[in-house]
Amino acid sequence: MSKGLSGKVALITGGAKGIGRGIALRLAQEGMHIALVDLHEDKLKATQAEIEACNVKASIFVADISQLDQVTAAIEDAYSKLGSFDVMINNAGIAQVQALNDVTPDEFRQITDINFGGVLWGIQAAAKKFQTLKQKGKIINACSIAGHEGFAMLSVYSATKFAVRALTQAAAKEYAHSGIMVNSYCPGVVGTDMWVEIDQRFSKLTGAKIGETFKKYAEGIALGRTETPDDVAALVAFLASEDADYITGQSIITDGGMVYR
Ligand SMILES: NC(=O)c1ccc[n+]([C@@H]2O[C@H](COP(=O)([O-])OP(=O)(O)OC[C@H]3O[C@@H](n4cnc5c(N)ncnc54)[C@H](O)[C@@H]3O)[C@@H](O)[C@H]2O)c1
Repeated sequence: MSKGLSGKVALITGGAKGIGRGIALRLAQEGMHIALVDLHEDKLKATQAEIEACNVKASIFVADISQLDQVTAAIEDAYSKLGSFDVMINNAGIAQVQALNDVTPDEFRQITDINFGGVLWGIQAAAKKFQTLKQKGKIINACSIAGHEGFAMLSVYSATKFAVRALTQAAAKEYAHSGIMVNSYCPGVVGTDMWVEIDQRFSKLTGAKIGETFKKYAEGIALGRTETPDDVAALVAFLASEDADYITGQSIITDGGMVYR
């Protein structure tokens, strides 16, 4: 069991599926109550039932994390339903595969609003709530190996993740005096719907066969297998726990050996 998690409340954006769901289940197994935030009520309800089966409380809230007022409302909903607010996990994000020459202003705005804006508003709204409650808190953001190294055809996605790493450092410095720790997790190639989309998009743009891009990336992993949401969740549980109380401002890679920093 990770130290100091039982009975606390974590809010997870993008918690309905993929990595967010994996994090939610792991933290529920650690005894945390979970507030799930996502775009789709049906998927939220399915994950809520899985969390409640771990004998902890789970709330759901439909919100678009690119909108500050919706993120603030999600935190208030979690606090009122679950009675506390201790860990904010800014996990929701989208991928975008596009040649640099073809990136459009609309594509740029969409991914920036969600991946960069969503984390910015999540950090801001969570920090304000912790400060109002006059309590310590943890903020944990989804970054990526693409936040440490820019990848071809994933240029704007990579840029949003570099932005998350910058925000993580700046927020850690600004909020340290309030007892708020801010860190990020940087996965490699995780077998979620996001990678199904990335693979399909590469296929359309480059003519690669379906599955070929995923396989190519997987072959570059030193530990010889792709990542699971559980692998990511193990790092997040550590960062959320008291064992990580002296860590702030870091964007930690969990990728089985792909990008070395
Ligand atoms: N899958 C990977 O290989 C990988 C690698 C590195 C980093 N990441 C990051 O991890 C995070 C989760 O990725 P995933 O693989 O689970 O993706 P996913 O597509 O499987 O799930 C993402 C979830 O976020 C939600 N979401 C998207 N936009 C939203 C919005 N505006 N408001 C609220 N919810 C929204 C979706 O509905 C979905 O449930 C993302 O930030 C992603 O960039 C993923």
